[in-house]
Amino acid sequence: MNRRGRPVNLVVVSNRVARGKPNEPMTGGLAAALLPVVEHSGAIWVGSSGRVRDGHQKEPFAEIEALGSGAIATLDLPAAHYGGYYEGFANSALWPALHSRSDLIRVSREDYVSYREVNAFMARALMRFRKPRTAFWVQDYHFLALGAELRDLGVDDPIGFFLHTPWPVAAVTQGVPNHRELITAMLAYDLIGFQTEEDRQNFLGYVAGELGLVIDDGVVLSQHGRTRCEVFPIGIDAEKFAQYAAKSASHPDVSRLRRSLNGERLAIGVDRLDYSKGLVNRISAFDRLWTEQPQFLRSISLLQIANPSRGAIEAYGNLQNEVARLVTDVNGRHGEVDWTPIRYLNKGFSQAVLAGLYRTAQIGVVTPLHDGMNLVAKEYVAAQNPADPGVLVLSKFAGAANELDTALLVNPHDIDAMARAIAIAAAMPLTERKMRWDAMMKKLRGHTIQQWSADFVAELEKCRIEKAAVAPLAAQPPQALRWLKSAISGVRLI
Ligand code: UDP
Ligand code: G6P
Repeated sequence: MNRRGRPVNLVVVSNRVARGKPNEPMTGGLAAALLPVVEHSGAIWVGSSGRVRDGHQKEPFAEIEALGSGAIATLDLPAAHYGGYYEGFANSALWPALHSRSDLIRVSREDYVSYREVNAFMARALMRFRKPRTAFWVQDYHFLALGAELRDLGVDDPIGFFLHTPWPVAAVTQGVPNHRELITAMLAYDLIGFQTEEDRQNFLGYVAGELGLVIDDGVVLSQHGRTRCEVFPIGIDAEKFAQYAAKSASHPDVSRLRRSLNGERLAIGVDRLDYSKGLVNRISAFDRLWTEQPQFLRSISLLQIANPSRGAIEAYGNLQNEVARLVTDVNGRHGEVDWTPIRYLNKGFSQAVLAGLYRTAQIGVVTPLHDGMNLVAKEYVAAQNPADPGVLVLSKFAGAANELDTALLVNPHDIDAMARAIAIAAAMPLTERKMRWDAMMKKLRGHTIQQWSADFVAELEKCRIEKAAVAPLAAQPPQALRWLKSAISGVRLI
C-alpha cells in the first residue's frame, strides 16, 4: 500500500526465480532472497522457466502459479538467443567483469545481440502484467537494459533495478563489450540499488568519468532523466534460520553428521561452484593448517558443500576439475583410514537442512574473492546456538563484511592469514564467541529481508511522486527540487 491507501502492483523481474517448494535447495542468493518478499508482498515475480521456445512469439508463453499472497510467472525464452544471453553475455562477459575477473571476459558480438534481444523480449512479455499504479523492480545483471526497453514501449511507471553482485572499478567496466551503450541504457531506470557504498561509488565514478554525466547528490542526470543511485544492503530472515536450526537436529542428514564427528571440530563452507567464491584458496588454507600445525589433524575437518553451477561454461568446468583435484590431493596426503579431512559434496540442501549443518559447525568459512553480499555468511550467523555460537571467518571482500564486522575478517588471497584465522576460530573462548555473535545477530535482526524490500519499494514510489511533480516545476529547478525533497520525505509504502 502507499500513503494514499491504493495498492501498488509490484512486478518483480529476474532471470532465475525460486520454486516455492520448502524442501528444495535454492539456486543462488537472488532467488532465496526474493521468495519470502514475493510471498508476503503480493507481488508478481516474472522470470525464466529455464526452457526455450523456437520462433517469434507474439504473446510470450507464461506459466503462472500462486506463491503466498503473490505469484510467479515463468516464461520460455527465445531458443535462438538463450545461449548467447545466459551462458554468453550475462555469464561470460558481465559476471566475470562484475567480479573483477577481466581475464575471464569473453567478447562476442552475437552474444551482445542475443542479450539485447532477450531484454527486449522480456519487456514485451511484461506488458501484460501492467495495471494502474504498477512499479517494476528488475533484479540483477541479466537485465541491465530492460528499463530502456520498457521505456521504448512507452512505459512511464517507476522502474527500479537492484544489482546483487559487486560493481567494479571503471577500468574493469571498460572491458565489458558495448559498455557505453549498455550503461547509458541502465540510466532509463529511476532507481538503481547497490549492495555497498563501494559499488555505488564505482558505478558513479564510471558514469561521471566515462560518460561525462552530471551527478547531483547521488542522482545521475542523463538523456533519460533522473536516476537515483542508492545502497540497499540485502538482509535475511534471521528468525527463520534460527527456528530452522533449532528444529533441525532430528533431520537424518544433520544427526548423521553429528554422530560422525566423534568430538572433532567441524568447519563448513557452502557455495555455488563459482570462481568468485575462493574455493581453491580456502582449501589451500586448510592444507596449510594441517601441514604446518599437525595438532589440527583429526581435530578439525571441513565440510564443503559446492553446488555445481553454470556447468556449460568453460571457466566453470575448469574450476570444478581444479577443486576436485585439489580436494583429492589434500585428502590423499592428510587423510587416515578412519579420518577424511575434507568432506566434499557436489549437491545442494534445503535451507532447513543447511541451518542444521551450519549449527553443527563451530567454524563458518565464507571466503569469496569478491561477492555482492553473500547470504550464506548471514545465514551461518543466524543459525548458531546462542548459548554456544560458532565463529565466522569472513572475507573482507564479501559485501557482508560491512555489516558483520565482528567476524574474523580475512584477506582470501593470503593463505597463511586464513590458516591462522581458522586456528584462532577453533580456539576462541566462549565469552568472545558470544560477544562477536551478539553484535552480528543484532545487525541481522535490525535489517531483515522484508525491511530491505520495503525500503527499496518505498524509494521507488518516491520516484513516481517526484516525476509527477517535476514536469511543472522544471522552470525553477533549484528551489523547487529542494521543496520537493522535503515534501516526499517520510513516504513509506509497505
Ligand atoms: N543454498 C541452498 N542450498 C544449498 C546451497 C545454498 O539453499 O545447498 C542457498 C543459501 O541458503 C543461500 C543461497 O543459496 O541463500 C546462496 O546465496 P549467496 O548469496 O551466499 O551466494 P550466491 O550463490 O548467490 O552467489
Ligand atoms: C548469483 C546471481 C543471481 C543468480 C545466482 C545463481 O546469486 O546474482 O542472479 O541467479 O547467482 O546463478 P544462476 O546462473 O544459476 O541463476
